[in-house]
Amino acid sequence: MLINKIGKADGEKMNDLELYREQLALCDDKIIDALMERNSIIEKIMAYKEEYGMPILQPAQEEKQERRLKEKLDGNKYQEEIHDVFQRIVRNSKRIQARKLFSYNLVLIGFMGAGKSTVSDYLSTMFAMNIVEMDQVIAEREEMSIPDIFATYGEAYFRESETKLLIEMQSRKNVIVSCGGGAALRKENVVEMKKNGRVILLTASPETVYERVKDSDERPVLNGNKNVEFIADLMEKRREKYEAAADIVVQTDNKTVLQICEELITKLTEMDAE
Ligand code: S3P
Repeated sequence: MLINKIGKADGEKMNDLELYREQLALCDDKIIDALMERNSIIEKIMAYKEEYGMPILQPAQEEKQERRLKEKLDGNKYQEEIHDVFQRIVRNSKRIQARKLFSYNLVLIGFMGAGKSTVSDYLSTMFAMNIVEMDQVIAEREEMSIPDIFATYGEAYFRESETKLLIEMQSRKNVIVSCGGGAALRKENVVEMKKNGRVILLTASPETVYERVKDSDERPVLNGNKNVEFIADLMEKRREKYEAAADIVVQTDNKTVLQICEELITKLTEMDAE
């Protein structure tokens, strides 16, 4: 009979290994059961918030959960690994929430500086949703900044790229599409946006917009015209088209990003309930 280093027979050693594997499989079953239970609790929380008209976004609660987890894992040999798993778990809970709330793309439109990028980032963090920042995607594809695209190929070329990208969005689901300020001005673009998205118009006063854009040179439309009068004038020219495109409107002056997003969610869910 073959005897191994620790003096056990090979057959016996194999049996131990089989036993560990069985224990591991049982452990995995427990994890699956716990995750199923966790997800159903997430659904109960959502239903509760909806029933009592409570805010969907509760960043303070999320922070509290994270603190509790860190305390619990403090000094744990597998602290890093377990924390990593929990980040995934929380991310997936957010995805479950996002899919339940929005079965469509969230298309953000509005004037430059209305808050589209800020709101997109926040929603993306809260719901683990992907963002398509149109300007950024177009700039990456062209390997050129937006001002350079305008200067090299002209505005019409840029507007064409916007339309193409919006058509591409038809194959995506449950993403945030942050449009360039001019994207909703073309009727054909709005048709594309609405095919599988809800169009959310963010608004701000010309003074607020001026404050938000004054230190940036990324907007060729405003370069050389960065003053409240020009902004007010262009905004007025665009207003009708923006409003015609919008499914919902959220005014952003003097509000925190959390307040804006909460209002946006409330308005969307009300619209869906109609
Ligand atoms: C534009 C807005 C910009 C960018 C381009 C043209 C516009 O996007 O697409 O400079 O015509 O309003 P932001 O609204 O994200 O600044």
